[in-house]
Amino acid sequence: MSAELIDGAAIASQVLDEQKQRVAVLWRKKVRPGLAAILVGENPASEVYVRNKARACEEVGLHSELHRLPANCSESDVLALISRLNGNAQVHGILVQLPLPSHLDSERILQSVRPDKDIDGFSWHNLGALVAGNTRLAPCTPTGVMVMLDRVGIEIEGRNAVVIGRSVIVGKPMALMLIGRGATVTVCTSKTRDLREHTSRADILVVAVGKPGLVDGTMIKPGAVVFDVGINRMPDGKLAGDVDFASAREVASHITPVPGGVGRMTVAMLIANTVSAAERLIQPKS
Ligand code: GUN
Repeated sequence: MSAELIDGAAIASQVLDEQKQRVAVLWRKKVRPGLAAILVGENPASEVYVRNKARACEEVGLHSELHRLPANCSESDVLALISRLNGNAQVHGILVQLPLPSHLDSERILQSVRPDKDIDGFSWHNLGALVAGNTRLAPCTPTGVMVMLDRVGIEIEGRNAVVIGRSVIVGKPMALMLIGRGATVTVCTSKTRDLREHTSRADILVVAVGKPGLVDGTMIKPGAVVFDVGINRMPDGKLAGDVDFASAREVASHITPVPGGVGRMTVAMLIANTVSAAERLIQPKS
């Protein structure tokens, strides 16, 4: 059996088309949703992500602005910039590109973004809402996985889901979203003893660790749905996920490729979150 590919590029393109319609409604109300990205230092991968985000903004009709700070800037420089953007009515979404240089306190910086402009969903307010099952702005990558599950028509309730990875960006919110939909969820890490014992019971498997080849076809339950969130640059310059694609696709029923899978959805969900933030921010306060 060869698994059906989950085409992240095609689903992301659908999601972006839907955003264009929501943006048109906002334009009629004289509101142009705006996204401000903050990039500290010169990380090549971050440069690529930020460029992709700006391109998607342009495609959908969003205002986007990039604020670059030097790698040696102080924490108060970043906090002052965020404070200005928090008060700027043209900016509906603020994104601090991670990772930040190690001398900066990422947690303090992320928590200084106004929760209603926190389009990454990393503020405690938004993460808390997710825990409570009352989702507001939620982290983009796991939201993208949920949208893919729904659009491909995969049943979630009552099924075994295994998430490998426990980051705040992917693993933890992913587990919460799957729990919210009634899956039985196990969270593993790259250090989990006998990882295979867990993965081989997963109907839905999400791998988000950053270790190429961590999961191969022998560890996957026949017919499972596999989401590979890893994006690893290999010595030959090519991108690879955390899942050994060639062996996994012989066992899974559905699988996301790298590139062209989950990564494309992350950007689409960021745009959707920015539009949601703009819709909410212009609502008259009751
Ligand atoms: N770096 C890697 N993934 C992400 C993400 O989802 N958001 C931000 N802000 N930075 C990242």
